[in-house]
Amino acid sequence: MSEETPHRRRPRYSGKNPRRFDQKYKELAGHPDTIARVIASGKTPAGTHVPIMVDEILEVLAPREGETAVDCTLGFGGHTRRLLQRIAPGGHLIGLDADPVEIAKTESALRAEGWSPEVFTARKSNFAGLHAALAAAGRTGVDLILADLGVSSMQLDNPARGFTWKSAGPLDMRMNPARGISATQWLLKISPSALEEALVENADEPDARLLATALAGKNFETTTELASAIRQALPMRSTELADKAIRRVFQAIRISVNEEFTALDALLRTLPACLNAAGRVAILTFHSGEDRRVKKAFQAGFREGVFDLISAEVIRPSINECRANPRATSAKLRWARKAR
Ligand SMILES: C[S@@+](CC[C@H](N)C(=O)[O-])C[C@H]1O[C@@H](n2cnc3c(N)ncnc32)[C@H](O)[C@@H]1O
Repeated sequence: MSEETPHRRRPRYSGKNPRRFDQKYKELAGHPDTIARVIASGKTPAGTHVPIMVDEILEVLAPREGETAVDCTLGFGGHTRRLLQRIAPGGHLIGLDADPVEIAKTESALRAEGWSPEVFTARKSNFAGLHAALAAAGRTGVDLILADLGVSSMQLDNPARGFTWKSAGPLDMRMNPARGISATQWLLKISPSALEEALVENADEPDARLLATALAGKNFETTTELASAIRQALPMRSTELADKAIRRVFQAIRISVNEEFTALDALLRTLPACLNAAGRVAILTFHSGEDRRVKKAFQAGFREGVFDLISAEVIRPSINECRANPRATSAKLRWARKAR
């Protein structure tokens, strides 16, 4: 019998280009020509993530050879690669991520690119535990800290993770599927008033009360079931407005399920203790609830003399970047420097 791998037919799909995540086998296998074509069309190739505001982040963090760094949100490793290029040789970067599935893939990719354990360590951890993660790595402080909040495109685009309503998948939404409860269970347990509060606080949802009454305590097994229920609850809205409401509801649930504000507040509290004197931190946020927290924490740190410099204004991505990567559109960058 032949030992050769049997020939596999490509997944069938109608039209010229695949639409479903699992049909995008060339993107998922990393075919360079396909990846370049998808990026040039302003889209993110399946199974990858295009890093946002890289030049601006490098400018404010100003990484130097030999420095130590933590990327609190390793993701696909886009920012990490650029930081490593600046701090190596002699420097070291610790990449944290709560997602056990994606961190393993990114660590393997970075190793294959030649980043040895001497310069790069990956650690599955919530960034709320940054201080403990540093202690476990035998460090008390680092020179650079980066956090690029929210979910990656790999998580968002994969229907199996339950973050997207564009294709059917289990309504999960956990960055770490081994912890906490799924979005299905969360919605089943929540009261209308608590859901209304989450929709306002996490996504500035204007129809929070109406939607909370329609969705709280109900059983939605899939992402598309939840999306249909949101559309039904807003019958007078255009498709465009209903899609925006679906996006906001999904965002609000994701933030609650992953306790994202609790984690961000914990990170902001522990930051000063994790930075060396004159160390820099940059945080990329994607909505007002996150940006407000970062702004207040940096301003309070500045008043108290913990930070001696902070960003005067929020930094936004260029029009060119937003055109090339629409997922950058809502990004806001703030930074701070620890006093000497
Ligand atoms: C926007 S992506 C980061 C992308 C990354 N900067 C890149 O260039 O590929 C955010 C990542 O942070 C992770 N994440 C979000 N909240 C986290 C938390 N509290 N602790 C650890 N990781 C978290 C997500 O799992 C995701 O992989």
